[in-house]
Amino acid sequence: MKPLLGYRKPAPGTRPNHLYPPYVSSIKRAPKQPLISVPVTLSEITGPTFAKEIASPKAFDLTRQHKREPLGERIAVSGRVVDEDGRPVRNTLIEIWQANAAGRYLHKNDQHDAPLDPNFHGAGRVFTDADGRYRFLTIRPGAYPWPNHRNAWRPNHIHYSYFGPAFATRLVTQMYFPGDPLLAFDPIFHAVPDEHARNRLIAVFDLDITEPDYALGYRFDVVLRGRGATPMEE
Ligand SMILES: [Fe+2]
Repeated sequence: MKPLLGYRKPAPGTRPNHLYPPYVSSIKRAPKQPLISVPVTLSEITGPTFAKEIASPKAFDLTRQHKREPLGERIAVSGRVVDEDGRPVRNTLIEIWQANAAGRYLHKNDQHDAPLDPNFHGAGRVFTDADGRYRFLTIRPGAYPWPNHRNAWRPNHIHYSYFGPAFATRLVTQMYFPGDPLLAFDPIFHAVPDEHARNRLIAVFDLDITEPDYALGYRFDVVLRGRGATPMEE
């Protein structure tokens, strides 16, 4: 059998540094030994496929998963997932999770003194179409404090996961909002060394995605590899 080609290494500066001391938990988490390259085998490039039913219409509309609508500013987030050559990544499972409009996650570890919303649990999933496009309807997540340093606040953000063909190919990142004053102070955002790469994590306000009288629209296109890659968490 011919050796498998595997995946291209991320372009320099497009991934967060393992060690970025302003992001305090990276000090404990960063590997202290050089990384070991694991050769790609069939297990890394094949895997289960997901049944289309796990992403029902309700799953991509986070504003309609409960009895009533959640509080907050409705937004539509849409974009394309492409590879390094601009080819669409079709039928890939995208999952998102986020805080509610008050900046609170529905999670036992989140003890931020802000209200939970009984009509919002903050998780959604969707498959890309034949052109690599996806769309979510949700509410704009609030900023929240975190214990990294005194007066640390995370900017508004949505967490994204892209599954690809196998569990080993799953990529995770965060989408931010344009003009957020907290971006300048966020060590997670700044752990990506290359400024251009970092800025690819910021969605673009897009009137074509905005739904008149209903929801503001943001475009978040994702490039999986190459020099124009969207930064992904390690
Ligand atoms: Fe978060």
